Amino acid sequence: MDLRGKRILVVGGAGLIGSHIVDELVKTDVGEIVVFDNFSRGTMDNLAGALKDPRVTIFPQGGDVLHEDILDRAMAGIDGVFHLAALWLLHCHEYPASAFEVNVRGTFAVIQACIRHKVKRVVYSSSASVYGNAVAIPMTEDHPYNNFTFYGATKIAGEHMFKSLGSQHGLSWVGLRYMNVYGPRQDYKGAYIAVMMKILDNLDLGKQPVVYGDGSQQYDFIYVGDVARANVCAMTSEATGHCYNVGRGIGTSIRELSELLLHLTGSELPLRYEPAGQTFVTNRIGCPEAAARDLGFRWTVDLEEGMRRLIDWRKNDQEAVNRKRRAASLPV
Ligand SMILES: NC(=O)c1ccc[n+]([C@@H]2O[C@H](COP(=O)([O-])OP(=O)(O)OC[C@H]3O[C@@H](n4cnc5c(N)ncnc54)[C@H](O)[C@@H]3O)[C@@H](O)[C@H]2O)c1
Repeated sequence: MDLRGKRILVVGGAGLIGSHIVDELVKTDVGEIVVFDNFSRGTMDNLAGALKDPRVTIFPQGGDVLHEDILDRAMAGIDGVFHLAALWLLHCHEYPASAFEVNVRGTFAVIQACIRHKVKRVVYSSSASVYGNAVAIPMTEDHPYNNFTFYGATKIAGEHMFKSLGSQHGLSWVGLRYMNVYGPRQDYKGAYIAVMMKILDNLDLGKQPVVYGDGSQQYDFIYVGDVARANVCAMTSEATGHCYNVGRGIGTSIRELSELLLHLTGSELPLRYEPAGQTFVTNRIGCPEAAARDLGFRWTVDLEEGMRRLIDWRKNDQEAVNRKRRAASLPV
């Protein structure tokens, strides 16, 4: 879809990835960007820059996907929808009934509203969690659903609701399976990336950084600005009815990640290893080729540059970081 003059709804637009999508859209000649979010995890801090652009507004009547009449009103006259609203992995683990409501029923409500309002294009945030632990590396989109988490189950349900209702009603959609997304505005709640914030917190206090387990767990870390670009590529591409990996295709162990943070902050403190707590997935690297071929998306920010940007954001926006600490019940 050509973005020129279009009206875009970003459902879950106040969150980490959603707010970066809004920033990315502001750089285009899009007509209007409406954020629909209940702020259960998203924040006004995340949107502070984007809201300076008069094309960006927050839907004033409400922002919960489960309030279907309000969602329906927000969808009127909308050309394109990014759907990111969801409860996160650990929350889904602890509260599966709520996860079912938001991630499954909420996604169903978004799809139905899109169909009713003849939305031209939808980009759905799925997750690499649908794959579970890798049975083959790098994981292509054909990798089996080796998932054992309820969060992953809700994302599989979302993909299949898009697939079935999309083909039944001619809805043009693409799903994106993000690997591990990190960068400025990240908080302390992510199952795999909170470690970055905790290590940097420790280093700020001159304390030894802690690695849980032996640090050999490997993930495919991708910078949030690249993920936002992947979303815009997906919105403007011709591809439809498929899900694509969004990652770099490069594995980094938690030990390597921690050592990189020590190097970038100039710390000589040794890492401290402690027994692993609950781990869901320990090995996950996604093949980025299909997204490059069909969506024209290629990552640009490597891990070292991305970590520098994360460190700079923490330095330059300490108030926002402190609010994220408070939201996670951490001392400030
Ligand atoms: N961050 C990652 O590494 C990652 C990886 C894979 C998939 N994803 C998926 O990408 C999407 C965005 O992730 P994120 O990291 O930006 O998460 P996030 O929690 O920062 O963003 C989700 C947003 O949805 C909002 N929200 C939650 N419940 C809602 C509801 N009932 N109605 C309306 N809004 C609601 C939250 O307030 C938040 O702003 C999510 O669907 C997530 O599952 C993220």
